[in-house]
Amino acid sequence: MLDGKRILVTGAAQGMGREIAIEAARQGAEYVSVADRNLDGAKEAADEIEKLGIGAQAIDVDLANSDEIRAMIEQAVAGGGGLDTLINNAGVMEGAFTADTSFEDLPEDVWDKVFDINVKSIWLATKFAAPHLRASGRGPSVINAASVAGMVGYVSTAYPASKAAVIQLTRTTAVALSPEIRCNAFCPGSIATPMSDAFLASAPDYDAQLQRMTGAHLIPRFGTSGEIAKVVAFLASDAASFLTGVILPIDGGTTAWRGLRN
Ligand SMILES: NC(=O)c1ccc[n+]([C@@H]2O[C@H](COP(=O)([O-])OP(=O)(O)OC[C@H]3O[C@@H](n4cnc5c(N)ncnc54)[C@H](O)[C@@H]3O)[C@@H](O)[C@H]2O)c1
Repeated sequence: MLDGKRILVTGAAQGMGREIAIEAARQGAEYVSVADRNLDGAKEAADEIEKLGIGAQAIDVDLANSDEIRAMIEQAVAGGGGLDTLINNAGVMEGAFTADTSFEDLPEDVWDKVFDINVKSIWLATKFAAPHLRASGRGPSVINAASVAGMVGYVSTAYPASKAAVIQLTRTTAVALSPEIRCNAFCPGSIATPMSDAFLASAPDYDAQLQRMTGAHLIPRFGTSGEIAKVVAFLASDAASFLTGVILPIDGGTTAWRGLRN
């Protein structure tokens, strides 16, 4: 349960972030800030949270911009009267910026954009949040969205390298902010969200891509945002109070074998 926690979730207008924000409210969070560059989507999520009787606000942010990240943290602290949990969920694949996603064709500026949003923004948000988290007194922690794509080789160029960086940044953060602030990462397998819909739709062979995405799971289906949100809520809760520096796959068993279901 997340009673009393004031929580900020990035990339929460849709997909996993939205479900994480709503699950936090269901589990009794005191206040939830929903940050995204899609302000309309963020407002919808905040409205849904308020309907559960929990205070919420939508924050308009472009996580590629350092000043906006600083302002996001300040707005979250002002809205909640403090900050206890920072969930760095937002992430992008190179396909959001270009059709040339292959190793040899990927434009250099797209590599930089993916790293700015997936990695640098997490360092900046955590750095700006750290003094507030240290002052929280309510079991503060940081939770980062990595990916199984950061743990094993993957058919994409900048994205897996960026997620591997998130994994190491998580450990670095756990070390730097200990003992007061915990920091953990979760590594989803293929989860049904607008991101995985787009990845599937961009493949030349839809059925082959679908099999690669779901057949590599021991539980051969897409995971759901709800299945992610419940584990993330546990990481944020005081039930996980001795857990820091952990990289937790939520992947239907993908990283436990190297097979493919027919
Ligand atoms: N869906 C999957 O199968 C999967 C698998 C492994 C890891 N992940 C990771 O989990 C996280 C959530 O994924 P998802 O599938 O819900 O993604 P999604 O694309 O459905 O949602 C991501 C959200 O982040 C926001 N966002 C993107 N760039 C932003 C920016 N510059 N500033 C502010 N907001 C921005 C988008 O507007 C969107 O609302 C991501 O970090 C993703 O890399 C997803």
